[in-house]
Amino acid sequence: MDIMVNANYVMYNQAQGKEVVLAEMVEKLEIKGGIPLIGDVFIGGAKNAALPALAAALLTEEEVVLRNLPAVRDVRTMLKVLEYLGVKNERINESTIRLKAGTPTGDTAPYELVKQMRASVLVLGPLTARHGEARVSLPGGCAIGVRPINLHLDGLTKLGAQVDIDHGYVHTRAKRLKGTEFTFAGVTVTGTENLLMAAVLADGETILNNCAIEPEVGDLAVMLNAMGAKIEGIGTNTLKITGVERLKGADYSIIPDRIEAGTYIVAGLITKGEITVRNCRPEHLRSFLDKLTEAGAELEEGKDYVHVKPSPKLRGADIKTSPYPGFATDLQAQYMALMTQAEGVSVITETIFENRYMHVPELLRLGANIAADGHTAVVKGPTRLVGANVMATDLRASASLMVAGLAADNTTVVRRLYHLDRGYEKICRKLGGLGANLKRIN
Ligand code: EPU
Repeated sequence: MDIMVNANYVMYNQAQGKEVVLAEMVEKLEIKGGIPLIGDVFIGGAKNAALPALAAALLTEEEVVLRNLPAVRDVRTMLKVLEYLGVKNERINESTIRLKAGTPTGDTAPYELVKQMRASVLVLGPLTARHGEARVSLPGGCAIGVRPINLHLDGLTKLGAQVDIDHGYVHTRAKRLKGTEFTFAGVTVTGTENLLMAAVLADGETILNNCAIEPEVGDLAVMLNAMGAKIEGIGTNTLKITGVERLKGADYSIIPDRIEAGTYIVAGLITKGEITVRNCRPEHLRSFLDKLTEAGAELEEGKDYVHVKPSPKLRGADIKTSPYPGFATDLQAQYMALMTQAEGVSVITETIFENRYMHVPELLRLGANIAADGHTAVVKGPTRLVGANVMATDLRASASLMVAGLAADNTTVVRRLYHLDRGYEKICRKLGGLGANLKRIN
């Protein structure tokens, strides 16, 4: 008997003076696989660019309009975090929102929200810089790894903030942050974003070395400059920021989601279909597309689309994940599912997160032949996949099970669909539009 968590988690929000739903109901995805996908699919805005862009609204009292926002759960969670801090928001349409932080009335990102989404920690930098104080629940470990935030805290300390850990919360205080030079001891995406948002309002010049150069970091920097920040070196791993007294509002459109695009490309290939993935930026997917071509995928690219041609004979190809511009860890699980259908052996090495093979036992239940040991997984293909009940454990693991289910015979049921909803918008509508037979069940 399956136990469903179908109660919404409700909490009182002081800033709004009312109860708000913090966690939504859980559903499952039922996929009848084996149908080649055909047609066009349109990619939404990048979740991982939208989250820091939303947090950046805290940096100004003026209005910020964000366009091309993806309709995903993580964006809704970030909006709840911002509401908690007193930021007002108004929907203009499905993908456009107007935000106004005014003078933040709160300084706390509570445990109940941060535990749902670690990226809530992105409010730490802007709140400290603008409000002079922030309390953000320390994100614990998550399904894919320990994921500490020590580098965020080291950087904020270097910028002059007093940082304390108190009752499970990070508590930062600073009258005004002071420009400094800081070198990240490891490459961190949200760490770079947090420090960038802190440094733009600091007094004087900040040099950040060994920054992440993911397109989402660049997108945030471009948006901050549109708000009046002075950031140089965008797209490189050294960012020079000249602090300003205040930032103004902006009207900004988020870049397309490269991971959503990559996931649909895999869906097209694994079902031996023919699809065009539109509204994407192929240049943000370079390592991924090159690897697929090496594996025998027939792809045609334009400035903002990738056309997946029928590619009946895929062969195994090895990958090793690494920070951008390397092979994205967020596409590793989907690529692994694809390699179960390729001829020969593929060796997959995950170097970013220590526990990002949670999809392996579930893919085995569908009939895959994969041996995972530590950071390495060896996939032998092709194997026939046959539908089964599988359990999603995190966002990208769920995407891997979804694409495997599209290729599998019979019915696959992906449980804990809320993981997928965190980062993929309108899954049934988009995949259904390509001819897939799938539905949400409650
Ligand atoms: N790390 C530290 N200390 C820190 C920060 C990071 O040791 O202070 C380590 C992490 O434990 C990890 C590595 O550095 O081993 C890289 O982590 P990073 O900080 O870059 O990850 P993140 O910023 O928490 C973002 C994305 C992830 C994506 C990673 C890597 C957002 C909101 N999240 O996470 O996206 O996997 O970068 O590219 O941007 C997803 O969308 O499914 C997702 C997990």
